[in-house]
Amino acid sequence: MEENWDTIADWYASQLSTGSPMHGFARDVLLAALPQDMSGARVVDLGCGEGIVTRAVAARGATVTGVDPTKRLVEHARSIERATPCGVTYAVDDGTVLTTLEDSSADWVTAGLSLNNIPDLEAAVRSVRRVLAPGGQLVFTIPHPCFEAPHASWVDTDDGMSRRLIGDYLIEGFWRSDNPSGVRRGGNQHRTVSRYLMALINHRFVIELVAEPQPDRRLIDQQPHRAGLPPFLVVRSRRV
Ligand SMILES: C[S@@+](CC[C@H](N)C(=O)[O-])C[C@H]1O[C@@H](n2cnc3c(N)ncnc32)[C@H](O)[C@@H]1O
Repeated sequence: MEENWDTIADWYASQLSTGSPMHGFARDVLLAALPQDMSGARVVDLGCGEGIVTRAVAARGATVTGVDPTKRLVEHARSIERATPCGVTYAVDDGTVLTTLEDSSADWVTAGLSLNNIPDLEAAVRSVRRVLAPGGQLVFTIPHPCFEAPHASWVDTDDGMSRRLIGDYLIEGFWRSDNPSGVRRGGNQHRTVSRYLMALINHRFVIELVAEPQPDRRLIDQQPHRAGLPPFLVVRSRRV
């Protein structure tokens, strides 16, 4: 059976509930691109999943709506909110349309590891632009396209190191990992770095921050071979 977000939703939520170092790092690098104090800010968390980023942004004082088309993940998010309320609202919605959200209703949109799951990037950026108020900002993380390109693998070299082997960076589009315990077994959209940046530029966003953070200690302890490469690309841009 081919997997997708509906079929891996319970597995994904259970990975995060046990404190996955990779997902904790992904959340933290996105948070690092946001203000510490977000009191009064209206935030949409696009592709919120079970809410790991949504809750962290709410903890900074923002009013946050998490949206995601995967009903089962939204159920997980709502269940966590019921158990430990932090004032977050969740909606089932698709990032390419955001039909549950009014025009100019957000000061920030966060998108943690979700744009790379959306087939139509231009439609998603257009929707984000619509819901952001003028001057509002989009912060997203994606698996770093250069190092997490389709079917990238680790190879052991003669010097005892483990090195990343990349073959298909320029081949864009849908691909599915054959790693049975990897998140991208559910399918994923690969795009070049320039594709993401040009989508922002085409929709009149001004890029204000680009970051390629080094893995943190917890992630390196779990996966030492990752020490020299940034697993994620972080981009913050402003709607003008
Ligand atoms: C890797 S998960 C990230 C979830 C969460 N942001 C996190 O950091 O754990 C990717 C998310 O993208 C969502 N997604 C897939 N297609 C989408 C779409 N068209 N619009 C918005 N989100 C989408 C999935 O349902 C899933 O929750």
